[in-house]
Amino acid sequence: MDGKRKKTISITSGKGGVGKSSIVSNMAYLLDRMNEVTYIVDADLALGNIDIMFGIVPRYNIKDFIDGKRDLKEIVSRGPNGIKIIPATSGGYELSNLSDSEKNVFLSGLRSIPDYDFIIIDTQAGLSSNVIYFNSICEEMFLIVTPDPASLTDSYAVIKVLNKKTGRKNFNVIVNMVKDEAEGLDVYKKLLSVTDRFLRVYIEFYGYIPLDRNVADATKRQKLWTKEYPLTAATLALRDICLRLLRS
Ligand SMILES: Nc1ncnc2c1ncn2[C@@H]1O[C@H](COP(=O)(O)OP(=O)(O)OP(=O)(O)O)[C@@H](O)[C@H]1O
Ligand SMILES: [Mg+2]
Repeated sequence: MDGKRKKTISITSGKGGVGKSSIVSNMAYLLDRMNEVTYIVDADLALGNIDIMFGIVPRYNIKDFIDGKRDLKEIVSRGPNGIKIIPATSGGYELSNLSDSEKNVFLSGLRSIPDYDFIIIDTQAGLSSNVIYFNSICEEMFLIVTPDPASLTDSYAVIKVLNKKTGRKNFNVIVNMVKDEAEGLDVYKKLLSVTDRFLRVYIEFYGYIPLDRNVADATKRQKLWTKEYPLTAATLALRDICLRLLRS
């Protein structure tokens, strides 16, 4: 509405393919529908695919800004409705790991965005120096976990490393691809049992998203599932997560 909330959040994960980019795009759509001015930063600098999710072909990307070739305004692409997207480069290997001066350029660009409610940063999976950096500059961090045992162990590793390297103590967990809330809570409790034992961090069960065939269907057609299927289980669950974010 008036861009006063000003919150930067990251969506990250240990294991790849857990639904980060899908959640980022659809969260942005729902927040936009709730009149929140929302930017997406595709921070998966080597293999970003937010543009593909939205079916857009950006003219410029984040590399053009970091290299000083374009202003931030020029690299912001328009998604559906009012969503604003800062696209990654695809296969831009030079940006796979940002140097300190590139990080500074990026951060000053982010800080110069005048009016926004939310900036959502879609990161790569894993623990590259970029991922650690992008998570360090966000107010809130959302870790996407699935019931896959590898996702649990990788999530634990992400929490441990981010806590150690950035001092972060608060982590929000969203459990994706579950049958129901009970399974979501179960996965969360498994993660909690190891973090409680070995780390001094607070992890919060922020919500769950069911495994939903409409998600896969819309994604294949390069459509947003929240737009195509406003009443499907995954949309309703993500809506609850957005409403919670608005209350915080
Ligand atoms: N709740 C869900 N139900 C069904 N399919 C889902 C769900 N969430 C994500 N998917 C599907 O999982 C696949 C991977 O999603 P996505 O690309 O968003 O993951 P990612 O974590 O961003 O992957 P990467 O680590 O490669 O960046 C997509 O095909 C997406 O449609
Ligand atoms: Mg992704």
